[in-house]
Amino acid sequence: MKKRGEFIHFNEEGYDILKNYLLYKIDSIKNIFILVDDVTYTHCLPILFKKIDFLKKSNIIKIKSGEKEKNIYTCIQICKNLEKFKATRKSLILNLGGGVITDIGGFVASIFKRGIRFINIPTTLLGMVDAAIGYKTGVNLDSIKNEIGSFYIPEFLIIDTHFLKTLPNKEILSGMAEMLKHGLIADSNFWKKMNQIQTDTIFKNENECRNLIHQSILIKQKIVNQDPKEKGLRKILNFGHTIGHALESYFMDVNKILHGIAVTMGMIYESWISCKINDLSIYDYKEIKSTLSTLCPNPIQDKISDLEINKLLLIMEHDKKNEKNKIQFSLLKKIGKCSYNCQVPSSLIKESFLN
Ligand SMILES: NC(=O)c1ccc[n+]([C@@H]2O[C@H](COP(=O)([O-])OP(=O)(O)OC[C@H]3O[C@@H](n4cnc5c(N)ncnc54)[C@H](O)[C@@H]3O)[C@@H](O)[C@H]2O)c1
Ligand SMILES: [Zn+2]
Repeated sequence: MKKRGEFIHFNEEGYDILKNYLLYKIDSIKNIFILVDDVTYTHCLPILFKKIDFLKKSNIIKIKSGEKEKNIYTCIQICKNLEKFKATRKSLILNLGGGVITDIGGFVASIFKRGIRFINIPTTLLGMVDAAIGYKTGVNLDSIKNEIGSFYIPEFLIIDTHFLKTLPNKEILSGMAEMLKHGLIADSNFWKKMNQIQTDTIFKNENECRNLIHQSILIKQKIVNQDPKEKGLRKILNFGHTIGHALESYFMDVNKILHGIAVTMGMIYESWISCKINDLSIYDYKEIKSTLSTLCPNPIQDKISDLEINKLLLIMEHDKKNEKNKIQFSLLKKIGKCSYNCQVPSSLIKESFLN
């Protein structure tokens, strides 16, 4: 797999590179399509226009915001719009938005006329450190997350930390959960650094913010580049997500919880399991639990009954990442080191919810 997607450019330098690319690599402004949702249309598109004035003449494709829109029907609508505005194989999609936009836009780019170019400009913290990195694109099939998708490489990425200024705090927390995860699975120094930050001010300090985002991206890229198609090592990025996804799916109907919150809780439970069967020390477990619980005071713990725990297990048993009918976990060995393909007895999964 080519490694073009790894080029990431920040802030002002990023806009210069983008501007030059658009001027010299795209033959007509009519060939540029900007994909936004209704929120990034309001908050982010004006910023992009301010930086690159001529983009005002490009084609804008706007969809509704939210995970519900991440489906194949939205892709068809986008393809119809591309067709209507006479997109060609030389066209380019600029994805300006969070993970939903970069996932959908990347997927459409990979299938429209058998593949056109795209550039990601993530506007959420989660998009910057996670969703827009690592070549995965895709949409949900009913309630099955990311069931339809492709691996597809963007031309490059632009990260503008100014977009974070309008991002609601809960979305910042969601991104931070993935950043903390990167520290836990692969870099104990980064975990320590993330431990010390003040959530309410850090993302307002441009330099620090940029450095943390950059380091987090490098951790993910290093893992992805060793195993782009998730045959082995890349699975460590799923730490916290086996239980996290089950919580997210289960509570989707009852009482919607954010991905980042679900993953934070998942990381606490899976750290406890790591402590029981994967050598994680009790000292590390306590540190993880204390940091993550401060970040995200558990909103649903009191409500998890025995009945719910059984339902969560059922969801985990149907996880598409399972192999040979066994629920697969990625578990910590210590802070900064993670194993994958770990099988965990159901009794221990159940017990983890009670700790
Ligand atoms: N491809 C991957 O490898 C990968 C990895 C992780 C997550 N994802 C996917 O990413 C998605 C979640 O991403 P997300 O959390 O960015 O969700 P999102 O795109 O829905 O964005 C969250 C909310 O923030 C709004 N928003 C975006 N930018 C904003 C800004 N600058 N200011 C104010 N509001 C803004 C959006 O309109 C939306 O309402 C999920 O679909 C998940 O499956 C993909
Ligand atoms: Zn995640």
